[in-house]
Amino acid sequence: MAQPPCRFPPIESRPVTVDFPPGFVWGTSTAAHQTEGGNWNNDWWEFEHRPDTTCRDVSGDAVDHFRRYPDDIRLLRDLGFGAYRFSLEWSRIEPEADEWSRAALDHYRRMLACCLEHDVMPVVTFHHFTTPRWLAARGGWAEPAIVDHFARFCERSVAALGDLIGMGCTINEPNVVSVLGYISAEFPPGVRDFAAFGKVNEHSIAAHRKAYDVIKAGPGDFPLGLTLSMSDWWAPEGAEDRLVRTRSGHEGQFCEAARGDDYFGVQAYSRIRLDEAGMPTGPEPGVEVLDMGYEYWPQGLEAAVRYAAETARVPLYVTENGIGTTDDEQRIRYTTDALAGVGRCLADGLDVRGYFHWSLMDNFEWAQGYQPRFGLVAVDRETQRRIPKPSAAWLGSVARANRLG
Ligand code: GCO
Repeated sequence: MAQPPCRFPPIESRPVTVDFPPGFVWGTSTAAHQTEGGNWNNDWWEFEHRPDTTCRDVSGDAVDHFRRYPDDIRLLRDLGFGAYRFSLEWSRIEPEADEWSRAALDHYRRMLACCLEHDVMPVVTFHHFTTPRWLAARGGWAEPAIVDHFARFCERSVAALGDLIGMGCTINEPNVVSVLGYISAEFPPGVRDFAAFGKVNEHSIAAHRKAYDVIKAGPGDFPLGLTLSMSDWWAPEGAEDRLVRTRSGHEGQFCEAARGDDYFGVQAYSRIRLDEAGMPTGPEPGVEVLDMGYEYWPQGLEAAVRYAAETARVPLYVTENGIGTTDDEQRIRYTTDALAGVGRCLADGLDVRGYFHWSLMDNFEWAQGYQPRFGLVAVDRETQRRIPKPSAAWLGSVARANRLG
């Protein structure tokens, strides 16, 4: 099938130089369940341990970030990054309905303080995929009660932590929670239920709006938004309308729901190709396929930033971008090309204020387990020793210089 011409300058256009605007934020991202270890009280741990699980590994000790965060935060600062995005583990803070753990909140308070001591801006995600078991047992995101439960969790958390937070994200990738949890069954609850899928989207948008107001009313005064899984999109000639509709369901409705927010978080890794019927089809023959099963497609970030700018119409941060690969030179090439795309967006006047690389360390990549290596830093999971890769020094120096090339 004929491919449309690439909308972006070919990758061979490297080397490229980009001067990022003063104050551009450079950070790395992680999530609690992927790094902390021992998060046995959430729906993911239960899902990993089902007898018929499709997960490649259990999360187990993960990379013991719960205990090792002081060293990890120092490491990212030493590498040259000025911001760190991590998430609160709801099941630690509210282990049973309306039972609150002061100790868990104190833990996150120490993490925030540690960032500030190192001149690192802490960026806090309130929900990154995991839901406490007690709430998942009551229907989780498919039931409207989650809206109020989530708002109460945010209210408690911000009351204890808000004065130290640098930026906040209510919900990470609600579109992934709905598609992977309720359509493709790769995430908990692992069902194929189209009606529930629609409700999950509805509830996560309502939860975001309510959480936004609750967090804003609490201590602290920091930019708040949501972060979304986005892609470049392609469909064959004649299927353009389907592409617009599908993209709007997957991305557009969330971008629109974010219009009153302080910022919008773009997270992009690759491209989604649709067939004539608007259904996802595989990678394009000839394009490299990564461990994650999708195309090597650094152009995805530029496409996502442009779509978010048009649709969300608020300042943007790239809150995740990266590549799961064991070839660290490929990580540098990929990130160079993705950042060059951000540079073109900036040159066109788009308001992009920062870039957070996924991820600081190799970690638990959900159903794919420990195989995909997204980290700038490798982790020996026997000893938990951190081993920075060349890409860590490279991206850290880009961050320090605020300049690519
Ligand atoms: C995400 C994810 C991360 C993934 C990353 C790589 O928000 O999709 O936040 O949890 O690990 O995207 O696949």
